[in-house]
Formats: sequence, structure tokens, C-alpha cells
Amino acid sequence: MIPAAFEYVRPPSLAAALRVLREREGGAKLLAGGYSLLPLLKLRLAQPGILVDLRDVDGLDGIVETESELRIGGRATHRRIHEDPAAARYSIVHEAAGGIGDPQVRNWGTIGGSCAHADPSSDWPAVLLATKATIVCRSETGERMIAARDFFLDTFQTAIEPTEILTEIRFPRPGPRTGGSYQKLERRAGDFATVGVAVRVQLGADGRVADAGIGLTAVADTPFAATDAEAALIGTDGGDAAIGEDREMSTQHITVTVNGEAREAEVEPRLLLVHLLRDVFGLTGTHIGCDTSNCGACTVLVDGESAKSCTMLAVQADGRAVSTIEGLANGATLHPLQQAFWDQHGLQCGFCTPGMLMQASWLLAGNADPSEQEIREGIAGNLCRCTGYVNIVKSIQQAAAVMRAADETPAEPAAAR
Ligand code: FES
Ligand code: FES
Repeated sequence: MIPAAFEYVRPPSLAAALRVLREREGGAKLLAGGYSLLPLLKLRLAQPGILVDLRDVDGLDGIVETESELRIGGRATHRRIHEDPAAARYSIVHEAAGGIGDPQVRNWGTIGGSCAHADPSSDWPAVLLATKATIVCRSETGERMIAARDFFLDTFQTAIEPTEILTEIRFPRPGPRTGGSYQKLERRAGDFATVGVAVRVQLGADGRVADAGIGLTAVADTPFAATDAEAALIGTDGGDAAIGEDREMSTQHITVTVNGEAREAEVEPRLLLVHLLRDVFGLTGTHIGCDTSNCGACTVLVDGESAKSCTMLAVQADGRAVSTIEGLANGATLHPLQQAFWDQHGLQCGFCTPGMLMQASWLLAGNADPSEQEIREGIAGNLCRCTGYVNIVKSIQQAAAVMRAADETPAEPAAAR
């Protein structure tokens, strides 16, 4: 992917950079580390007339602690922040910096670039919101301080004016008895957060929460501070009762017929069917590949219809019959589909195979003689990352032929047995 054409300049000073922004107002983009901007340029979601590289601008990457705050220059890299001894005293800042992206991203990506980019899934905004940081922006007419809580306006939109440069982020010194953490859920190391939360809590002399900051990322169009939750924490002991952990979710008693056997369980309504099968019933043949309804590794049959069990609640299966891969073979005799996958090399690592087999069994139950095209359409919701689909299709064709032949074979008269 090649970005659209643009001019490139490397001003020698902040004043020179600000001059370019004024002269090309609205048509310029700043390049600090590039790890947020380059993907946008390549996708042509950003097409600036001129790219202003801040590399030669001195004084933008300092990290200084004053009596009241930690000041981090906008061009300081995540890695530099993570390794800085002063920043290490700001636990949320230190923790977030060390968990951003991967080593390459941390080597080049910058705190200012990340915040100015305002990706709703990036890590820093949650930290700035929780710590009530201040963002310093410079233009030719002076300096402007913007509270983090007024800074992130919308997806990829901030309060920075086109003629301003984000020069510094200031984190207030944590008061006594203050602690915090930044935690995120990511699908793989280095991914953007699926959800991220930064929490800072300060206890008063009475041991109760005197101040709290909660910043959330990747849960809305823009990062935001959970102000209601902050207010709810103030004055509490911050324990389970305060955060609602003791509020037990109601459970429901369900009965599910799994592979012909009635099974019962007491489940929370939020429990997914795949977790009921794997974690409660111990049927781990049903796999979880993506958890986002894409891969089909979790496919089972529910009342004879194929379903992605990661996308169905356990309570939805109450009173129904569920078939899993564990019920496909007839004792020690493989199902024709299993035998065909073996014969035709329809699997390699086997991760997708249980879901693929269950989907194929559903397909053949409704169409005993599917064409190649119908097979491909029938398994379109099942992804195989290693075998490729040619042998899988051949396997299903073989199984279909075997099953048709078995259906056409007249049963032997009882007397002849
Ligand atoms: Fe259910 Fe991928 S785990 S579709
Ligand atoms: Fe490996 Fe399909 S056999 S993912």
C-alpha cells in the first residue's frame, strides 16, 4: 500500500514547524513516530498536502519531574517512558508504556503522536483520563493547556487546532496513599486493546477513597472518563461492595440434551454455550478460534441446526438437543465424515476440524449429494488456516458418497442374519 503523494519537510526548530502549520493550515500533518499515522496514510484515510517531520525539533522528548508533576515531551517514545526512572514512580504511566504494541512500536511510537492521533482503542488516553493529566499545545501565538478530559472529542478528533503542536503531557504527582493500574484485554500480544481501563485511587486518612480516576479505552467512539463510577467510589472502602462484585448475578437452572444425554447445570445468563460445553461439561472437542463469530471452530448442532456456540448463550440451549464432535463417531467406528477427512487428508493441525465436521454433518443432513459449489457455500462460515479447502471439499464429497451408498443398501432380512 502506497500513501497518496505529499510534500515532506523537516523543520529545524519548533518555531519553523509552527510556521509551516500556519502557512499550510489544515493541509499539514505532523510526524512524530509514525506508528499511528503511517497506517492511515497507507490506507489513504489521511491525505495531507505536507508532512512535517518533528525529528529535528529539540526539546520535545524530555522527561522531567517537578515538585507537582511529571512532564513528558510529546516526542518521547513509549520505550523511553517505560525505562525512565522518574516515570517509573507513576505506576499507571510506567505500566501502560511497557504494554503498548510490540517492541518495534515502543521503539518508535510516541506519546504525543498517540494522543494526537486519538485512536479510540489506543492505550494512552485511558491513562491521561484516569490521572487527570494536562496536555500542552503550542502555536505561534502561545501555549495552551488542555485538560485530558476536554481533549479527546471523537474518533481521531482532539481539541488540538491545526496550527498547534502537542508539545508536552503533564501528569500530576500522585498524592500520598495513591495507587493505580492500567489493564487491557488484547487478543494477541501487541494488539490494540479490546478493552482497556486505567484506574487511580487515592485513600484519605480514614482509609476510604478520597479521589478516584477511571479512564476507559476501546469501549466507545472516543476514550472517556467513567465519572459516575468515580463518584460512586468516593467515600467507600473500595472493596467488593463498592465495585459491585458482591452483587451476584442470578443463575438459571437449565437442562440440555448433549449427544443424547440429558445434562443439567446452574448457569449465569451470560454464560456462552461454548463455555458450558467446554468448561462445565468438559467437552473440549468444541474449539474456540476467534470468539467473534468468524471462524466456525466452535460449530455444534442445536436441534439439528448448525450454530456457532461462541455466539449463543447457554440459556438459549435450555430444553434443546446439542450435538458436539464427541457424539459424531459410533463408538470406535468413525463417522463417514471423520473417515473421509482421514482418507483425503482433510486436516493438518486439526484445530478447525471439529467445527468443520459438525458443519459438514449439518450440510449432508439437508443435502445428500451437494455439488462442490454447495459444499464450499456450506462451509463458508468455517475457516481453515492450514489445510486449504481442496482436500476438505474432497473429504465431504467422499463422505456424502459413502453415506448415500449406505442409505441405498437394503437392510438384510432378519431371518438371514
Ligand atoms: Fe466461534 Fe470462532 S470461536 S466462530
Ligand atoms: Fe489446521 Fe484447519 S486443519 S486450521
